[in-house]
Amino acid sequence: MISKEKIDEIKASVNIVDIIGESVALTKAGRNYLGLCPFHGEKTPSFNVVEDKQFYHCFGCGKSGDVFKFVEETRGVPFAESVQIVAEKAGFQLDIPLSNRQVEKTNHPHQVLYDIHTEANKFYHALLMTTKMGEAARNYLYQRGLDDQVIKYFQIGLAPQEANYLYQHLSKKFSEADLLNSGLFNTGNANTIYDAFQGRIIFPLTDEYGRVVAFSGRIWTESDLANKQVAKYKNSRGTAIFNKSYELYHLDKAKPVIKKQREVYLMEGFMDVIAAYRAGIENAVASMGTALTGEHVRHLAKYCKKLVLTYDGDKAGQAATAKALEELKDFNVEIVFLPDNMDPDDYIAQHSEEALVNILTKSRLTGVEFLIQYLKPENPDNLQMQIDFLEKIAPIISQTSSITAQNSYIYKVADMLADFDYQQVEEVVNRARISSRQQRQESNQIPQEQHFEPPRQEVIPQQARITNLIRTENHLLARMLEHAYILNDYRLREDFYFITPELQVLFDILKTNGEITSYDLAGLDEFVQRAWYRVLEEKLPQEIGTNEIEELESNRYREQIKRDNRMKLKTVREQSHVGNDDQALDELTKLIAQKRNME
Ligand code: UTP
Ligand code: MN
Repeated sequence: MISKEKIDEIKASVNIVDIIGESVALTKAGRNYLGLCPFHGEKTPSFNVVEDKQFYHCFGCGKSGDVFKFVEETRGVPFAESVQIVAEKAGFQLDIPLSNRQVEKTNHPHQVLYDIHTEANKFYHALLMTTKMGEAARNYLYQRGLDDQVIKYFQIGLAPQEANYLYQHLSKKFSEADLLNSGLFNTGNANTIYDAFQGRIIFPLTDEYGRVVAFSGRIWTESDLANKQVAKYKNSRGTAIFNKSYELYHLDKAKPVIKKQREVYLMEGFMDVIAAYRAGIENAVASMGTALTGEHVRHLAKYCKKLVLTYDGDKAGQAATAKALEELKDFNVEIVFLPDNMDPDDYIAQHSEEALVNILTKSRLTGVEFLIQYLKPENPDNLQMQIDFLEKIAPIISQTSSITAQNSYIYKVADMLADFDYQQVEEVVNRARISSRQQRQESNQIPQEQHFEPPRQEVIPQQARITNLIRTENHLLARMLEHAYILNDYRLREDFYFITPELQVLFDILKTNGEITSYDLAGLDEFVQRAWYRVLEEKLPQEIGTNEIEELESNRYREQIKRDNRMKLKTVREQSHVGNDDQALDELTKLIAQKRNME
């Protein structure tokens, strides 16, 4: 037990303002400090910390106490543990024997599982820090940029390459049944019991109160790294104290910082959270080898409402980001998009701690901005891809509450697409808003128990899908198909080509074969096939008008110029956006000259 004198000494060596200040943003108000009460929800501060008397009091909910009480209340731990926590902060080394600590603890039904994990954790950590075998594993961690301080902070350990080293150690203290319930052991043939983790670097996984509830082990030896069959990380199985759909790595230590900064970074891997910590960012957590679940989200919502998604920059990470956005509808979400398929740990290794801080804090996208980038057409000239993209992004943009943000998204989208300008995109967004409103009304009229999938309305009506330019070119190609002499005229014009790429493909075949057979069609890209059927659907009068072809030509010319100008304007905007003012001015001058010529 800790003596009364020792407890007073610990209390005297810390300042309550600093300790509470770790989790509550405090401002000096006269002789006291004032902040938002952590014990009840409030918008105007009534939580006072009285520095000269070293206690706190909330005028809103009436809670008060000293530094230990504060730790007890906010961490949900008993008194003795709060003393321990404060002592550690003050730099005291209290070596309380485990048995004494146990007596002090409330009698949790799964206490023995926590104790097994505490013991296992000590065992793994000591193996890493003090043995010859540990030295090689530590070298692996050093080479990945971790130092001893970081290894201690995250309590990283090592499971030896032995069948039952941990079991032998723990079976002296715990019963076989309890050990088998801990998830740290498996049974083999003839009832042999062996360690679940062997030859792996161990990351203890803690719950939000800092209790070790599971482990994750990473391969590190040359032979394992070379073997594609071995899983890189292996986690404890689910147990009475470990639900991997709920727990978040590092949440216990990140908690106070999350409250203070009012935001949390969510990352994919343990090593990413560690990289953030190395760079001084302490409010990062990771899910434990699973996708983000609703349970994770509700867990995080206890601490803040703003989340910075920092998943890997690769394809899988982007897909996971898009999926997580769906789970995070009630959060204010920002996204850090890391370049070159990197994760935060790769980024710190490639660049520096400062660079990681920079990218994490300064280059964030909104959810919609991310989705615009993520969903954007691979080929922005391809009409069908542009339409598909618009159909997906318009409903998302239409749900943005801020009109200014909405306008800027519409600009961004219009900038990306060859065949749509601002007005057209805006119209599609408006249409999406109307159609989602209609769907909501319709589904409200349907009785609850009946499963009802509202018919998916097309955001872009059929005929608006075709731009003037394409309509003109379809018309022209249709006439070529009907009249061999028109086709022939164009065959002979070496400078002629269709501006719509799909139509040009068809025209190339026509030029050489004189027709397009179903065999030709079958070998063509899907977009070209669709373009072909659009041409066949043209309903034109039998007779060709006297100046029909000439009018088509001049129409085509006009539309082409308009399109060119639109593209130039986009370049101007892009260039000035990235600061290339000279280039932007250059393009703009050309554009103005062009417009004069047309008038
Ligand atoms: P990653 O494959 O992105 O690993 O898995 P990482 O974070 O970059 O790790 P390092 O840098 O190679 O060490 C991300 C997370 O997915 C889970 C782990 O939780 C890991 O932190 N995972 C990964 C597994 O559970 N099993 C695996 O085999 C791989
Ligand atoms: Mn990594």
